Amino acid sequence: MTSLENTQIDINTKRIDQICAAAPVIPVLTFDNAEQAIGIASALVNGGLSVLEITLRSEYGLTAIKQLKQALPQAIIGAGTVLNPSQYQACIDAGADFIVSPGSTAELLQFGSQSTVPLLPGVASVSEAMQAMQLGYRRFKLFPAAVVGGVDTLKAFAGPLSELKFCPTGGIKPNNAADYLALNNVMCVGGTWLTPKSLTDAKDWHAVHQLALRAAAM
Ligand code: 3PG
Repeated sequence: MTSLENTQIDINTKRIDQICAAAPVIPVLTFDNAEQAIGIASALVNGGLSVLEITLRSEYGLTAIKQLKQALPQAIIGAGTVLNPSQYQACIDAGADFIVSPGSTAELLQFGSQSTVPLLPGVASVSEAMQAMQLGYRRFKLFPAAVVGGVDTLKAFAGPLSELKFCPTGGIKPNNAADYLALNNVMCVGGTWLTPKSLTDAKDWHAVHQLALRAAAM
């Protein structure tokens, strides 16, 4: 084993690989209360989507992470929309299994490279990926995937950045998810389509479960 393979960032890369191998789709979720968090997360996990990204876009986000870690011990609970090290630390304290950011700052990348809770940093360009590669990162969220060129961009990245793998998010839907998942440099995809507002407003957890079953079979 070389010294490089012993570094925290390489351990984190392996952990991200395990997490992303657990399900083809990571639902991106924003919760406002416990009933919603438990109802929706249970429907998704029971439908086969065992990896969830709970965003900090609502005030309830951190509490939701704490609750779901207790209520669904079989699930892998990530924290999303993490923008800085202090939010990162708060998510670790809440029990998050991994951290996702929509983009990358030098501060966040530095913090994540030394944390035992792995970071899946967002990038939208080759240059951003190259910056993070200097710290050892090899796994990324491509965001907003559809806006920055989607499948064609990922195919183009595969040439010069052949050791990188991505979780594209942003604009992924049931009708294009399979195109992304077919790429060698895609580990899994993320998205909000499993929880449309019409279903969450109606508290139709059964319909969410049905969407999860379909996504898990991809
Ligand atoms: C994210 O943060 O990953 C996105 O908001 C998900 O994008 P989507 O709503 O297009 O799935």
